[in-house]
Amino acid sequence: MVKFRRVIRSTCLFLLLFIVRCTPPKDHIKCVSENTNCTITNSYGTFPDRSICQAAYAAYPTTEEELISLVANATKAKRKMKVATRFSHSIPKLACPDGLDGLLISTKYLNRVLEIDLQSMRMSVESGVTQRQLINEAAKAGLALPYAPYWWGLTIGGLLGTGAHGSTLWGKGSSVHDYVVALTIVSPSGPEDGFAKVRRLDESNSELNAAKVSLGVLGVISKVTLQLQPLFKRSISYVVKNDSDLGDEAASFGRQHEFADVTWYPSQRKAAYRIDNRVSSNTSGNGVYDFIPFRSTLSVGLALVRTTEENQESLHDAEGKCISARLTTTTLLTSAYGLKNNVIAFTGYPVIGYHNRLQSSGTCLDSPEDALMTACPWDPRVKGEYFLQTTFSISLSVVKNFIQDVQKLVNLEPKGLCVLEQYNGILMRYVKASSAYLGKQEDAIDFDITYFRSKDPGTPRLYEDILEEIEQLALFKYGALPHWGKNRNLAFDGAINKYKNAGEFLRVKQMYDPFGLLSNEWTDQVLGLKGSVTIVREGCALEGLCICSEDIHCAPNKGYFCRTGKIYEKARVCTLFRKKKQL
Ligand SMILES: Cc1cc2nc3c(=O)[nH]c(=O)nc-3n(C[C@H](O)[C@H](O)[C@H](O)COP(=O)(O)OP(=O)(O)OC[C@H]3O[C@@H](n4cnc5c(N)ncnc54)[C@H](O)[C@@H]3O)c2cc1C
Ligand SMILES: *[C@@H]1O[C@H](CO)[C@@H](O)[C@H](O)[C@H]1NC(C)=O
Ligand SMILES: *[C@@H]1O[C@H](CO)[C@@H](O)[C@H](O)[C@H]1NC(C)=O
Ligand SMILES: *[C@@H]1O[C@H](CO)[C@@H](O)[C@H](O)[C@H]1NC(C)=O
Ligand SMILES: *[C@@H]1O[C@H](CO)[C@@H](O)[C@H](O)[C@H]1NC(C)=O
Repeated sequence: MVKFRRVIRSTCLFLLLFIVRCTPPKDHIKCVSENTNCTITNSYGTFPDRSICQAAYAAYPTTEEELISLVANATKAKRKMKVATRFSHSIPKLACPDGLDGLLISTKYLNRVLEIDLQSMRMSVESGVTQRQLINEAAKAGLALPYAPYWWGLTIGGLLGTGAHGSTLWGKGSSVHDYVVALTIVSPSGPEDGFAKVRRLDESNSELNAAKVSLGVLGVISKVTLQLQPLFKRSISYVVKNDSDLGDEAASFGRQHEFADVTWYPSQRKAAYRIDNRVSSNTSGNGVYDFIPFRSTLSVGLALVRTTEENQESLHDAEGKCISARLTTTTLLTSAYGLKNNVIAFTGYPVIGYHNRLQSSGTCLDSPEDALMTACPWDPRVKGEYFLQTTFSISLSVVKNFIQDVQKLVNLEPKGLCVLEQYNGILMRYVKASSAYLGKQEDAIDFDITYFRSKDPGTPRLYEDILEEIEQLALFKYGALPHWGKNRNLAFDGAINKYKNAGEFLRVKQMYDPFGLLSNEWTDQVLGLKGSVTIVREGCALEGLCICSEDIHCAPNKGYFCRTGKIYEKARVCTLFRKKKQL
């Protein structure tokens, strides 16, 4: 089996040299020669600071024993190491070993389901198993992972690493890590342990609270056991309302419906409420979700949309953005975002079906081998989406004030947020306080915001100031927690101080990896151990590498100057002046 897999891999690599036709998502680990002199990026092809990340070696263990041996050998050589997954879907520089001598340990072939215990409804998997595989295999056994990210192209190790979640205020909440009942983690150690120590943690061990959301700095997780539930059916309807009472509604809506979420279009002043609950499994319906933005898309279409957006940006065409935004929203709403009542079509709400077919999607991962005529919309090999993401959670106790602050900004600048409605607005999802040391501290709403990024780091974006003010409002006025797997650098500034058990986490880290072989400059900065996450240089605020304090951090030559916010005076944002004078 092991040999067989290796043959397949090298055949594909071999073919790649001659016919460029292995077009499903590319391998983001590239090596000059057989697993040496490598580089790694994320699936978007760029880290936030646009640097290139190098590693001396890449390894693809196929068993836990091999993994242990790899960690031991690297520890003995005092080599930095980082876990890389088959997807690398996190935005920040989490997967990058420092220096030029590091080792990438890929979990690509640690992808087996190990055990499903029907009695206890527990499932054990290797850490490289994908969310899609996990959901499918569980469903075959009549079981369900109740809450999960909406995109199935993640590995269990990676999504735990960054605290990924779906949406609910029910039960233990929507974070996958809160359903972890045991895991095995391999960490560097001294000669007395043969240079690698294997720890099998379960709920009786408080260190599980550190390991289940770890940013990858405690060791390599080899195996995870999850508590599942009997498979069930759901019934989903979207209801669109104006957003005037969104602040009042947001918290209570989440308590009313188990899988509730809200997609907010602030410039269109409306919100799509997802009314989504369990129903009896004898309710008829065989619905399926194939979220449209996660489908394989024609490259020519992607290029057209991108070119239009680039033109709107360079011409400061706010009205054009609003027209595009309304068109996108209408298209998505009339096609129910990709929900279907059966395999063929959407015929009307409610859409009822089995949870495993509705909870997440990502068919663009199956893009045909058509030499990139179709791809995931953000595939860096085609001209398509290129964006930044700001994703944070705000405690339910203050979320109303935050929403109303954003609405005040929209009143001052009515077209300002059309720029993010082209990316399907603001996705609002419910998360609950977690026992994980680096998990959510309070019940909260997670806001997901996606917006244009120029290929040129020195080019500001339309309504730069409004987007930056929202980001700073959330993070600094309302104490929001950034999603570990998304965001721009500044979101992590001081973030670790918002976690009451950060000290416990660092204590476990010191015990598991005293030499920091699994840490890198980024995780040290994020954890407050060394230096700052912000990078101060010309134009740094445009990419969120810093908060501007001088005009040079914006783009004064293009009319963007560092000024205070419109409603949050502590915010420092890049504001366009030339245009204002012309108006
Ligand atoms: C299209 C899309 C949709 C998304 N939707 C959601 C969503 O709905 N909800 C949500 O919360 N997030 C979402 N995300 C973000 C996503 O959950 C995170 O970025 C996730 O961490 C990526 O998982 P990955 O398997 O690609 O891991 P990577 O990004 O490769 O790794 C993440 C971190 O985990 C570490 N790691 C990975 N495996 C192991 C292991 N076995 N042992 C130790 N450390 C390990 C890595 O070293 C790294 O530090 C989405 C991302 C994309 C691209
Ligand atoms: C590979 O790396 C080694 C050491 O880092 C270096 O000497 C060598 O030139 C590199 N080879 C290539 C092809 O880049
Ligand atoms: C670790 O090092 C030993 C001794 O050099 C070697 O035999 C073994 O193959 C190495 N393990 C891995 C996984 O590379
Ligand atoms: C929004 O809808 C409510 C009823 O749900 C209505 O009372 C209110 O006038 C509407 N606001 C606007 C601005 O249309
Ligand atoms: C579904 O099953 C429940 C019992 O589990 C029963 O009370 C109900 O009548 C059934 N409904 C239908 C539509 O068959």
